[in-house]
Amino acid sequence: MSAGEYDLVAVANRLPVDFTVAADGSVDWSRSPGGLVTALEPMMKAADGAWIGWSGAPDLAHDPFDADGIRCVPVTLSAEEIALYYEGFANDTLWPLYHDVITAPAYHRQWWEAYRAVNQRFAEAAAAQVAPGGTVWVHDYQLQLVPAMVRELRPDVRIGFFNHIPFPGIEIFAQLPWRRQIVDGILGADVVGFQRTSDASNFVRAVRRLTDLTTRGQIVMIPGHAARPPRQVRAAAFPISIDSKHFDELARRPDVQQRAREIRQELGNPQTLLLGVDRLDYTKGIRHRVKAFGELLEDGRLTVPEATLVQVASPSRENVEAYQQLREEVELLVGRINGDYGHLGHPAVHYMHHSYPPDEMAALYLAADVMLVTALRDGMNLVAKEYVAARSDDRGVLVLSEFTGAADELAGAVMVNPHDIDGMKDRIVAAVEMDTREQRKRMRRLRRRVLEDDVAKWSQSFLSVLTSVPAPAGGTDGP
Ligand code: F6P
Repeated sequence: MSAGEYDLVAVANRLPVDFTVAADGSVDWSRSPGGLVTALEPMMKAADGAWIGWSGAPDLAHDPFDADGIRCVPVTLSAEEIALYYEGFANDTLWPLYHDVITAPAYHRQWWEAYRAVNQRFAEAAAAQVAPGGTVWVHDYQLQLVPAMVRELRPDVRIGFFNHIPFPGIEIFAQLPWRRQIVDGILGADVVGFQRTSDASNFVRAVRRLTDLTTRGQIVMIPGHAARPPRQVRAAAFPISIDSKHFDELARRPDVQQRAREIRQELGNPQTLLLGVDRLDYTKGIRHRVKAFGELLEDGRLTVPEATLVQVASPSRENVEAYQQLREEVELLVGRINGDYGHLGHPAVHYMHHSYPPDEMAALYLAADVMLVTALRDGMNLVAKEYVAARSDDRGVLVLSEFTGAADELAGAVMVNPHDIDGMKDRIVAAVEMDTREQRKRMRRLRRRVLEDDVAKWSQSFLSVLTSVPAPAGGTDGP
């Protein structure tokens, strides 16, 4: 296959831009403020980078274009492929399987075929763009076959893979009818990154169980054959972060601080404002959290209007049935609690099914006394880190599920097991009642960690391990 011209090629399901298609069919795009873009942008610009991804719209064929110095190469998906590959295999097979089967994964051969075909399309696009001896960095569970497919097409390049979500234990992963193909796909990479050490160990255990390959610690030995020398695949944890400094600066802006005061006023100046911010996803533990809050009102340990819960649940994957069902359940529960405990002008739960821009989020974080992150399973959870980055006043309490990747790093949080409703209720009350001295002590510890380990450090550390891999035949020393 002929080489392209970009030294660093990022491959992710979505492009770093949002497309809008007008009624007359004309297409426009704007930069999307996602974390991955922020993480990769400096490297992409410095290393002459290209980004391969889907536009988010069906059947949209668009020529490659430059978005603020990043070459964007759209991959077209048909409406049927979106249903089978994205909503089906990625979000109704892999997503629940990799999140501890919180809902039952569906296994359909037709979905798998679409996943394979779409992965092949992404791999071909990456292989066509990467320069001789360049680097391809593949992201996440939607594209696990891409590393091996790129290696097949371009054995001269270095390949990295980062899984943003958990990697399950072999007992769960073994359910997947295509488990061997997935492991072989990922093993096409030179470096395989995970959020937690336990995810990396789960992956290596799956390699041991499902293949005959030898492993040495977290390194998998791939034997050579006639055309290919032997090589090694390193698995390791690289916990992702946020642009902490940017969030810190945002929350220090006078207009954002003023907006935080307004939010509290609009809510009737409650003594305690509790906040949840999530995509409306069954992994996030929203029902468990709202149930615990409702029981605290029932027990009289919290009362309205002194305490109120603001729950932002941004719309997500709305064509997938499990997400539709979750919405019904959450909205029924919120309605019941408001019916039982709300007063005129003072609902117990303020539920918002929208997403908000970063400055409004920073104001909400600043306004909240207690931040509730109660995910049942989460690769990392960046909301927890955003809350900490926003609190330069050293106030506020983070209640954090032990089942998030963030729990490995954020030792100053109040840890909860969201399945243990009684335990969680006690921890929420402890957070509400925590004195300011203890809040400050914990928040300072959290902030040191979040401000030091930002997303730029994350991408640098992954790429520096990747570029330390011996160059494949015909390769260079990397970006
Ligand atoms: O890693 C999980 C993830 O794919 C994130 O990258 C993304 O922000 C989120 O899930 C929602 O993804 P999507 O809307 O593309 O399904």
